[in-house]
Amino acid sequence: MPTDRLILRRPDDWHVHLRDGAMLKAVLPFTARQFGRAIVMPNLKPPVVTAADARAYRERILAALPDGFAFTPLMTAYLTDTTDADDIARGAAEGVFAAVKLYPANATTNSAHGVTDLCKVEGVLERMAGIGLPLLIHGEVTDQSVDVFDREAVFIDTVLAPLLERHPTLRVVLEHVTTEEAVTFVRSQAASGRLGATITAHHLLINRSHLFQGGIRPHLYCLPIAKREKHRRALVEAAISGEGPFFLGTDTAPHTVIAKETACGCAGCFTAANALELYALAFEKAGALDKLEAFASLNGPRFYRLPVAEEKVVLERTPGPVPDIILLPEGDGVLPFKSGETLPWRFAGGV
Ligand code: NCD
Ligand code: ZN
Repeated sequence: MPTDRLILRRPDDWHVHLRDGAMLKAVLPFTARQFGRAIVMPNLKPPVVTAADARAYRERILAALPDGFAFTPLMTAYLTDTTDADDIARGAAEGVFAAVKLYPANATTNSAHGVTDLCKVEGVLERMAGIGLPLLIHGEVTDQSVDVFDREAVFIDTVLAPLLERHPTLRVVLEHVTTEEAVTFVRSQAASGRLGATITAHHLLINRSHLFQGGIRPHLYCLPIAKREKHRRALVEAAISGEGPFFLGTDTAPHTVIAKETACGCAGCFTAANALELYALAFEKAGALDKLEAFASLNGPRFYRLPVAEEKVVLERTPGPVPDIILLPEGDGVLPFKSGETLPWRFAGGV
């Protein structure tokens, strides 16, 4: 008999784009109703660079939170060539920063301020290693001559491995891994306990062929781009393994429909509307629903050295449709990943 009720400790989302203003107000309730905590990405325009920026952004998030939600945003600093190590260290000591995010310059949405050369931030990384503050990495090389499907694997060989060698105590999360190479590399470092990896729901569910099924599918386009089926399988295998370095990070990245459905569409899948339902679907397809709690609720807090949640949440086997477009007040809207499709599981709140 298949299970029809799943109870797990309240999960956390270790990689979220909440945006700002009207978009923040529209998307935040979806993340806050399912997750207890979330690592909030700093790629606003302009980015969240200083502890003062992060404090102000945290206030805006808390102000946008509807009553009755117990949700903790964990803030990150956007690393730039000129980041001040003292400000980062002070921000961490004062509980403002949970991590620092490295975007190689121009790797993805709003990353023009990213780091142009790692040698410019060696001092900041040294300080972070000293205080145990994690570095979260968008792991793709930006060299446009490298094939877009190879940019993660090349990054691991040419940037990440040397970085870990130069900083033997720096704690790192390789964000939204999409390749078998990434899974193998993360495992090769498992003994150190200092390298984690987030895995999105969409990368567990789609491969690169889905991007072109019957025509071009702009709502499936994200960065890093989905890879071949063998890579998707490697990600599923890692997610359901229960192994400590692998944990949940949706990378939910809302863009308006107009920004997605255009000649040069933005990268990002909006998965927050049904994040847990999507992960449950992927885990069930792999026959591993019993491993969802480790991935969603236990491994992340252990890596971030935070307590695991006491509270529990329920998923029920009640098939339901993914919502249609979520309208924004000024017009336009955001389309959830798999909008219109039916998912077998439904998030039923806390117990
Ligand atoms: C993210 C966004 O839109 O902010 N897009 C994405 O495809 N994941 C940026 C990012 O995390 O790469
Ligand atoms: Zn992201």
